[in-house]
Amino acid sequence: MTESNVLLVERQDRVATITVNRPDKMNALNVEVRRALVSALGELRQDDEVRVVVITGAGEKAFIAGSDIGEFKGARPVDQYRKMVEGDIYSAVERFPKPVIAMINGFCLGGGCELAMACDIRIAGDKAKLGQPETNLGIIPGGGGTQRLPRLVRQGIAMRLIYTGEIIDAAYALEIGLVDQVVPQDALKEEALGLAAKIAQKSPASLQAAKECVRAAWRMPLDEGLQYEKVWFGLLFSTDDMDEGVAAFLEKRRPEFKGT
Ligand code: COA
Repeated sequence: MTESNVLLVERQDRVATITVNRPDKMNALNVEVRRALVSALGELRQDDEVRVVVITGAGEKAFIAGSDIGEFKGARPVDQYRKMVEGDIYSAVERFPKPVIAMINGFCLGGGCELAMACDIRIAGDKAKLGQPETNLGIIPGGGGTQRLPRLVRQGIAMRLIYTGEIIDAAYALEIGLVDQVVPQDALKEEALGLAAKIAQKSPASLQAAKECVRAAWRMPLDEGLQYEKVWFGLLFSTDDMDEGVAAFLEKRRPEFKGT
């Protein structure tokens, strides 16, 4: 595994935890972090031992407090555009063929909130603070915030958060559906890794199919999505894991999925 100081990757059993490691800068996303994250995901997708990924931030204050604002000063439009396309961590997470959980351990702002929204499930510590404060800088969310936020929360709430840049607490984020679970900060790691371990026991092909189909619901009309789901459903009947799952049920034992 390619190692980088700004990004740590740890594996335990079938779960890989990616930690953005710039705690003195609230884990802000600079070019180096973006490149390292895209590269780490590229390696983890090939690794059959890894079935679920958890993304978090180093330290106790921040998940990720957004893009590195220091890199904005003097940036030319074309360079900024290239940076967003080449370091498109949001699409890399969304298209990653295994479940990805955001473990939100503090400030989750701007590009951090956008990265969390690209993940499949968001679990936050009760001290977490979330928001899209880009209008304070005279810009808008550029990592998918204008698109994913209104798909997760009511449009008026998305508009309000983006217009005002308000920073909200974890309890309100749960109420509006921006996060899926809030747990005491000191139980966050155990809860998030526990969920990851539970998911990691399933057949990887069924997890990939589930992710692909649920993601398709964001972009496809219902009738196309229903067709798409049927194709994936049928495809899974070609896996050994499906034979194993059915046999285990009929034999009243736990399935042992091998990922084939
Ligand atoms: N980009 C670059 N550096 C950042 C950063 C970001 N998005 N967020 C925080 N930092 C840096 C600060 O500049 C500071 O660095 P320094 O010690 O070298 O001066 C360090 O992280 C600690 O942040 P600080 O502001 O002192 O902590 P705080 O507890 O007072 O405030 C925040 C925390 C997150 C509320 C505040 O840092 C903030 O508003 N950050 C910017 C959030 C944002 O606008 N994100 C969207 C960017 S598009």
